[in-house]
Amino acid sequence: MFDRPSPFRLDPRTLSAAFNGVVADVLARAAGRASEPVASAGSLEALERLVTGGVPAAGRPLGEVADELRNVVLAARARTDHPRFFAFVPSPVSPVAWLADALTSAHNPHLGASRQAEGPAAVERALIRWLAQALGLPEGAGGLFVSGGSMANLAAVVAARDAKLAPQARGDGVAYVSTESHVSVARALRIAGLLDRQIRVTPVDAALRMDPHALAAQIAADRAAGLRPFLLVATAGSTNVGAVDPLSALAEIAACDDLWLHVDGAYGASIALSPAKRGLLAGIERADSVAWDAHKWLFQTYGTGMLLARDPSRLAASFGVEAAYLDDAGSDGPDFWDLGPELTRPARALKLWLTLQVMGLEAVGAAIEHGFRLAEAAERAARATPGWEIATPAQLGVVTFRYAPEGLPPAAAEKAMRGAADLLLAEGFAAVGATRVNGRPALRICALHPEATEADIVETIARLDAHARMIAGM
Ligand SMILES: Cc1ncc(COP(=O)(O)O)c(C=O)c1O
Repeated sequence: MFDRPSPFRLDPRTLSAAFNGVVADVLARAAGRASEPVASAGSLEALERLVTGGVPAAGRPLGEVADELRNVVLAARARTDHPRFFAFVPSPVSPVAWLADALTSAHNPHLGASRQAEGPAAVERALIRWLAQALGLPEGAGGLFVSGGSMANLAAVVAARDAKLAPQARGDGVAYVSTESHVSVARALRIAGLLDRQIRVTPVDAALRMDPHALAAQIAADRAAGLRPFLLVATAGSTNVGAVDPLSALAEIAACDDLWLHVDGAYGASIALSPAKRGLLAGIERADSVAWDAHKWLFQTYGTGMLLARDPSRLAASFGVEAAYLDDAGSDGPDFWDLGPELTRPARALKLWLTLQVMGLEAVGAAIEHGFRLAEAAERAARATPGWEIATPAQLGVVTFRYAPEGLPPAAAEKAMRGAADLLLAEGFAAVGATRVNGRPALRICALHPEATEADIVETIARLDAHARMIAGM
């Protein structure tokens, strides 16, 4: 009848050898990622072969393909989890998260609904509850794990729109962001149906934080024009410079004007887990929703973000689904697939759970504080190096600075500075980002890795300086 051999079945020795190779590779990375180059491009021919190669009619040996995956495919990349990867928002992943990722993948729970995976569901609910408490959100707050900050921002914007605007009023709704808000917020607003004329970009103060006075004036003007202000998006930890908007003042305005307050804490909300730093988030407890990424400053692999909501029934009002084929699969109340846009969902919380259980809160707090200290060390080193100036001081693990030696025209200084960052990357030592602050070019160090040292930072600035001077001929 159907007793064909399984196409998945492999000789146990072959499978075991392949898994052992993976384990050896993973353990070598766990022992220290600092000895890897921070980025490697791979050979052009090998990449070309990958791009043009199809799928073979007859399968290839597992060991051979696994080696190709490890040595060719995965070798050609920036190692955003390297201790000296300071560009972008780095991803200082804990090896414990890898372990949970592998286990979760092997068991592959379906976490659309609790009934399909009660254990993983309990972990996700517990973590959401605990993270909401860490932010000071009230009992009853809820939410879910999503793929990252962009998705959390999108789901929050949709929930805000549905909570605050009747369908016939959507065309008059106005949302407020700042010049420093992450691009995913404007994209979320557009996906949610807002036109450019419905998005106000509020100015920022000298520290690049949303200006509450300017915001209040914009809201008043919009109301006077017959429009409907409905959503305020504040940032807790801006991507570019690590600024935290004045959350208490903004919460006050949102409360007085009946706006939904969404805080984009994708980057910065993790500091709530440091007793020494959580005060910087004062006011976040008044948010209606918060985006928070664990694949940034909570040591997880990509695809791990959280959306927290003061009133999770608002998420269910926007995303709840009903279908005959789901009738016997869900619980009585709203289930995970009712709280966000995904139906089939992986159990993203398990790796964060394992990591937090193994590290413990004290170590997590200390690891986060280490990021603050690294950026402060970078600020000190740049200040102490002639020819360099600080664009924005160290905050939340981020510092921006620029090469501006006396007598060198700005265009030449920019060329030297960018060239220096390129050389630093090319030699495999460190990755530093290029950005603009107040429209002026700058370099950016975002230092979050618990295994990065002050010596790494000092050496990075010293190499940048040597490269920049060489390029500028100084
Ligand atoms: C403040 C902020 N919000 C949102 C995002 C988007 O998050 P993700 O890349 O996880 O979608 C980022 C990413 O860097 C961010 O820094």
